[in-house]
Amino acid sequence: MNMDDIPLANGSKKAGVLNSDNFTLKDTPIENLRPFRVVVIGAGFSGILAAIRIPERLRNVEWLNKYPAGVACDIPSHSYQYSFAPNPNWTNLYAPGSEIQQYLRDVAEKYGATRFIQTRHRVDYCEWNDGEKKWMIRVKNLTTGETILDEANVLISARGQLNDIKWPDIPGLYNTFRGEIMHPGKWDTSHDFRNKRIGIVGNGSSAIQIIPQLQKVEGASLICFMRSPTWISGTFGDAAMVKLGLDPADTAFTPRQRQQLSTDPSLLFKFRKAFETTGNLVHEATLRGTALQQSLEAALREAMEAKLASRPDLRALLIPPPGTFSPGCRRLTPGPGFLEALLAPNVTVVGDPILEATKDAIITTPHSPESPEDQRTHHPIDILITSTGYHANRNPFLYSNILGRNNLPLSARWESRPETYLSLAVDGFPNFLLLFGPNGAIGAGSLTRMLEASVDYAVCFIRKLQREDYACAEVKRERVKDFMTYVDRYFEKTVYSDECGGWYKSTCTDSDGKKRIIVTGLWPGSTLHAIEAMRAPRWEDWVWESVEGEEGNGLRWLGNGMSVTQFGEGDPSWYVNEDHVEVPVEGRPEENAKWRARPWCY
Ligand SMILES: Cc1cc2nc3c(=O)[nH]c(=O)nc-3n(C[C@H](O)[C@H](O)[C@H](O)COP(=O)(O)OP(=O)(O)OC[C@H]3O[C@@H](n4cnc5c(N)ncnc54)[C@H](O)[C@@H]3O)c2cc1C
Ligand SMILES: NC(=O)c1ccc[n+]([C@@H]2O[C@H](COP(=O)([O-])OP(=O)(O)OC[C@H]3O[C@@H](n4cnc5c(N)ncnc54)[C@H](OP(=O)(O)O)[C@@H]3O)[C@@H](O)[C@H]2O)c1
Repeated sequence: MNMDDIPLANGSKKAGVLNSDNFTLKDTPIENLRPFRVVVIGAGFSGILAAIRIPERLRNVEWLNKYPAGVACDIPSHSYQYSFAPNPNWTNLYAPGSEIQQYLRDVAEKYGATRFIQTRHRVDYCEWNDGEKKWMIRVKNLTTGETILDEANVLISARGQLNDIKWPDIPGLYNTFRGEIMHPGKWDTSHDFRNKRIGIVGNGSSAIQIIPQLQKVEGASLICFMRSPTWISGTFGDAAMVKLGLDPADTAFTPRQRQQLSTDPSLLFKFRKAFETTGNLVHEATLRGTALQQSLEAALREAMEAKLASRPDLRALLIPPPGTFSPGCRRLTPGPGFLEALLAPNVTVVGDPILEATKDAIITTPHSPESPEDQRTHHPIDILITSTGYHANRNPFLYSNILGRNNLPLSARWESRPETYLSLAVDGFPNFLLLFGPNGAIGAGSLTRMLEASVDYAVCFIRKLQREDYACAEVKRERVKDFMTYVDRYFEKTVYSDECGGWYKSTCTDSDGKKRIIVTGLWPGSTLHAIEAMRAPRWEDWVWESVEGEEGNGLRWLGNGMSVTQFGEGDPSWYVNEDHVEVPVEGRPEENAKWRARPWCY
């Protein structure tokens, strides 16, 4: 039989010019360490991790992301850190922003990331050049005002989701109001709040943490504008604290406890295991109708009713009525002292919508739009804190300025909804990855471990491009569509599909013009689910373009038949080194503790 008559795997009979007479060996070792350039936008948890993990030359740019005073994390700190850099010195189970920032600085310094990071540089424009197979990038040095042109084989957006401030659209606020305006994401730590009349808009996670702090300021009076109900929870680490024999009400770690955690690695490990395990098992509470979800809702309702027993007005305003939305639908925030602060004599809670701002006051009016003029209430204030959230997946400035194939801006690609493949990639945007992108956050469990899984994926992706001589790779549109279908089906059974606001969700327009609410913030599953999904990349979901062109030999990267370790780099007998040999347990290898914890890992 003539070989040309045998159909190929794809059904065709054309085998290109494989093994043609023109083929020449590529005179490089198989590792194929061709120069590669990666640019990462952002240097928060994700960007620093990328600068640590990506072995190639890397240049990071960053705007400084401030954590405002009084705001801390809400995930136990022993779970809100890198898995490879546990910190025994957290002063509180919910460490303040300044401590988290210092932790990130220390990790970046220790693991060599700082040399790649350029602070006060803002990426303003990125365009895919399909001729060059490169990203053309424009960066602004915010100190000198200089514009820098750069290019990269791979572009990674690690811009975060919660740093592009969403200022509220309140008529008169920016042109008539003469007091100060502040947002938690642009906090002025030197501001003196004493004896001030402080207005606060919102009751999301930021306001819930800020209000109890400001309520205690000497001479301050607070007017809190809250238009929606919200669940207030106990602290997320309560169960783990009890398991560890600690009092959940006392979240500060004493110097003695920190010393013990520093000097006793087994104690630190025990802490971490307790927080990670309980964090992962609580995922069930996000699924509608489960026993855990129902008991959580009942417990939070009872606790809120008890704390607000003396204030039926606040109970009606703040506690979500049965059947509306369950805890977790919008970000559940532990609020130690929040409800208590609302009861204090120097705090007024206003449920009526804001109509406008005058030169020295906020005007509210009851819900009916026909309210007569005299029903308007003036709330005189000196400063307004707009705790109104961030542009998460929709509308951030940067997305209009990332242009993929055919000069299509990412914002246009995402006009109907921010679609991705595994939250990591978008069709039409070759050699582009997102860390903590749309559908990349988590409602319960460790986000930082998920970010590690995404960075590991990015490292594998870059290495494959480099080693196997691919000029670029683009995820298939069908797989993006498949992922979005999966996302929609998954969230139907979760509390996230209940009717509530918050940045986890967006409105999308279907092809028939109908609008519907979709979950765009969260990963469709648990942290453990995300780690497993990203662990072994499915390269068949991508289209790969070889530098050899379509007619070339796709295996030319096999090189000159040798390894780089035979040319003086690395170790030519690395495979006998102890750290490379995995010795099975004798007799019954399947009982090895490592493989019992995760037997399906290969
Ligand atoms: C007050 C607060 C508390 C939080 N607490 C928790 C918590 O307890 N647990 C949890 O899991 N999550 C928490 N989060 C969510 C938090 O945003 C993420 O956990 C974490 O910040 C993600 O890291 P990141 O590196 O992806 O993004 P970020 O930390 O937001 O970093 C992104 C960086 O990119 C920079 N950047 C953006 N655009 C550009 C550009 N064009 N050019 C250059 N640089 C750019 C930003 O300035 C920023 O420095 C909290 C968020 C806030 C605001
Ligand atoms: N400790 C922590 O971990 C922590 C702390 C802070 C932030 N965060 C993270 O950051 C995210 C964002 O939190 P956030 O509190 O900054 O924002 P958010 O959760 O988006 O809350 C915004 C609040 O502002 C209100 N609001 C917006 N525009 C308004 C307007 N024009 N008039 C009146 N009210 C208005 C919203 O009301 P409606 O709900 O009615 O729209 C909501 O109460 C959180 O979900 C969390 O993931 C975490």
